[in-house]
Amino acid sequence: MTSILVVNGPNLGRLGSREPEIYGSDTLADIEAMLQEQAGEGWSLECVQSDDEAELIALMHRAVDTQTPVILNPAAFSHYSYALRDACAMVTSAGVPLIEVHLSNPHAREEFRHHSVISAVATGVIAGFGKDSYRLALEQMMTLVGRH
Ligand code: DQA
Repeated sequence: MTSILVVNGPNLGRLGSREPEIYGSDTLADIEAMLQEQAGEGWSLECVQSDDEAELIALMHRAVDTQTPVILNPAAFSHYSYALRDACAMVTSAGVPLIEVHLSNPHAREEFRHHSVISAVATGVIAGFGKDSYRLALEQMMTLVGRH
């Protein structure tokens, strides 16, 4: 069975109550349940959320070692974590796809959100569609990796 790692960065554990006018009213558990249903039986989805940069980096190292495709919402780390960026670069340079996801469209928000240091090393980026950003990312990841 093919595994896919779904990783959410800082403050995304607060979805549902965190600025719902921007991020929607679904909790992260709601989004993860939606993805599990979408993945169905043939895929093993591992969903992890962490506010800790070191833990996110360790997850990218594990993805390299296990050749596990990654769907990542780096949250605020998108905008300034060169360390997470370098870990993501290891994933994609190992030939493992990594899709960067955002619920909101950071380009339509404050200026500090306009640049993601992750995007240049991601396989692709999906932003601005709320929880559907994750749905689209998973659909594309399953297409990229192929059905097993
Ligand atoms: C976010 C956008 C980031 O700018 C922000 O820091 C987040 C969430 C999004 O999903 O829209 O925490 O990644």
